[in-house]
Amino acid sequence: MALDSVLVTGGAGFIGSNFIHMLCEERPELRVVNLDALTYAGNLANLTAVEDRTHFVHGDVRSAEDVGKALDAAGEGSKMGVVHMAAESHVDRSIIDGEAFVSTNVVGTQVLLDACRAHGVARFVHVSTDEVYGSLGSEGLFTERTPLAPNSPYSASKAGSDLLVRAAFHTHGFPGCITRCSNNYGPYQFPEKLLPLIIANAQEDRDLPIYGDGMYVRDWLYVRDHCEAISAVLERGVPGEVYNIGGNNELANLNLVKRVLAELGKPESLITFVDDRPGHDRRYAIDAGKIGRELGWTPRFTFERALPLTVRWYQAQVEWLQSVRSGDYRDYYRRQYGR
Ligand code: NAD
Ligand code: TYD
Repeated sequence: MALDSVLVTGGAGFIGSNFIHMLCEERPELRVVNLDALTYAGNLANLTAVEDRTHFVHGDVRSAEDVGKALDAAGEGSKMGVVHMAAESHVDRSIIDGEAFVSTNVVGTQVLLDACRAHGVARFVHVSTDEVYGSLGSEGLFTERTPLAPNSPYSASKAGSDLLVRAAFHTHGFPGCITRCSNNYGPYQFPEKLLPLIIANAQEDRDLPIYGDGMYVRDWLYVRDHCEAISAVLERGVPGEVYNIGGNNELANLNLVKRVLAELGKPESLITFVDDRPGHDRRYAIDAGKIGRELGWTPRFTFERALPLTVRWYQAQVEWLQSVRSGDYRDYYRRQYGR
């Protein structure tokens, strides 16, 4: 599909900023617009290196006016792709208070869908999660046909947004695809999520909180591979279709943490078992066969290669990590834009 521009929502977050870096490297001809509300999870410092190559719109996906500004900045709808990543994304926060999750993830997605349809966008990729399928036992994999059975307010709100995208396709012929990816790791991840949290804590010789028995299994995928999969769906995905994305790389949390400690040369005595997360899903694992067969995507990074890359990145980014952990990063926008 020949696109002139891509509107990314949530481009100042973890996956969004990695996606924008990739677009700027690989598709310099594209106009890239980033619509982001800069919640606690949004950090414009993630985009410093590509600042001149992107157009930033400070706005909220729940506001039709803000979304309209971003669509106008991106240009003509018939040559525009939209990659929707803006979301409240942390399960633990959704357990404490689910309201923002319903508001941004569900209501925000509908506002965005309506505006994109009115603008006539050529392709819309809704970036969702394997968590909408619920939890697996010790056997089996999630396929695109697995029934939705979300267990946390986060995953329930993402499932709701998936259904709205599905309904827009069936009702209006809206050119939306849905991706459902497993757990990502890599640069620029907010250190409330497991991997950057343990890297940051271990570097300071602080306790590493492991929920429950630590035998909860996730399928870990390097963020660059996820970004390439999203790009494949943007270019070649069939409207109305769902594509699962995964790393074929299942690891129990405890084993993941031990690998990180070995990489950092830190002792396993830092591991501290803490109370379990309520409703904690035991295992996620993805069958990514469809996107491989139909769109030719497979992960390029092995865990053995990408985990050391990730650990080195956080070791080198002391300032980034400190500013995020101290909250100073929230001043970045004010300093840059004087408001
Ligand atoms: P993140 O929390 O790091 O970033 C979310 C971004 O969205 C932030 O920049 C934030 O400012 C922005 N945002 C939040 N509410 C907004 C609103 N109302 N309007 C505009 N912008 C808003 O999230 P992430 O980890 O980068 O995840 C991105 C997407 O990918 C999410 O939709 C998430 O559900 C999905 N996903 C994440 C993972 C993962 O492992 N992190 C895996 C699969 C799918
Ligand atoms: P997380 O990074 O929050 O991603 P998700 O809940 O979306 O999978 O958590 C990954 C796994 O790590 C999950 O099983 C919960 C667990 N976990 C801990 O054991 N300790 C922690 O401090 C955190 C944040 C997560």
